[in-house]
Amino acid sequence: MAYIEFKNVIKEYKMGEITIKALDKTNFEIEKGELVVIVGPSGAGKTTTLNILGGMDNVTSGSVWVDGKEVSKLKNKELIRYRREDIGFVFQFYNLVQNLTALENVELATQICKDSLSPEEIMKKVGLKDRMKNFPSQLSGGEQQRVAIARAIAKNPKLLLCDEPTGALDYKTGKQILKLLQDTCRKENMTVVIITHNTAIAPMADKVIFFKNGKAEKIEKNENPISIEQIEW
Ligand SMILES: Nc1ncnc2c1ncn2[C@@H]1O[C@H](COP(=O)(O)OP(=O)(O)O)[C@@H](O)[C@H]1O
Ligand SMILES: [Mg+2]
Repeated sequence: MAYIEFKNVIKEYKMGEITIKALDKTNFEIEKGELVVIVGPSGAGKTTTLNILGGMDNVTSGSVWVDGKEVSKLKNKELIRYRREDIGFVFQFYNLVQNLTALENVELATQICKDSLSPEEIMKKVGLKDRMKNFPSQLSGGEQQRVAIARAIAKNPKLLLCDEPTGALDYKTGKQILKLLQDTCRKENMTVVIITHNTAIAPMADKVIFFKNGKAEKIEKNENPISIEQIEW
């Protein structure tokens, strides 16, 4: 069994009379420590997939397995624990708490889980040793995203899920963020999933999943992924 298995997942949203099929029998597998990039047009079901993987949404049918646990069956306390302990989430617009410092944002996340890492150590790792006492509004977009990544990885999660993490950043800053995510995956042996619009970055990944119309339409394994620094677009 693979580390992550997404099996025949259907996700429907009912809106009054209308039913929207966000995922239509989606299947894929992810191995431990893999760097996975998910690409595809807007509305293809990418965010829905990430939310389901992260225990933030449920499936209509099908099953989702993470590290031998059937996540799609979890309820209440188990589901809360799964989100707290096993998942780190990074969003396009950072979602930091504005009236807490960078370091406090990271500490807040580590306080709710057991095997967390030292917030100060992680801040150093993401290159923010000297910005720990700054509030989000005093940081650039790229620095705020570094805080958000620090907050996610300080929980020492099994899975780091990133939904268009560079969507609000310029080219150079976005590339630095992708480098940080790639380094985190390689050095910490963390399983990392990145949603992006940018197909050019595919060569950095171990696996690329192409989404279309609610399906993982094509899955490519990449035996020789390259450093993001070698990719231009
Ligand atoms: N909470 C929701 N309620 C209703 N429809 C939704 C909801 N979330 C997503 N959808 C719909 O499901 C489809 C897939 O959305 P999404 O997963 O966000 O796509 P992507 O991230 O690939 O752009 C879209 O048609 C979207 O409008
Ligand atoms: Mg999306």
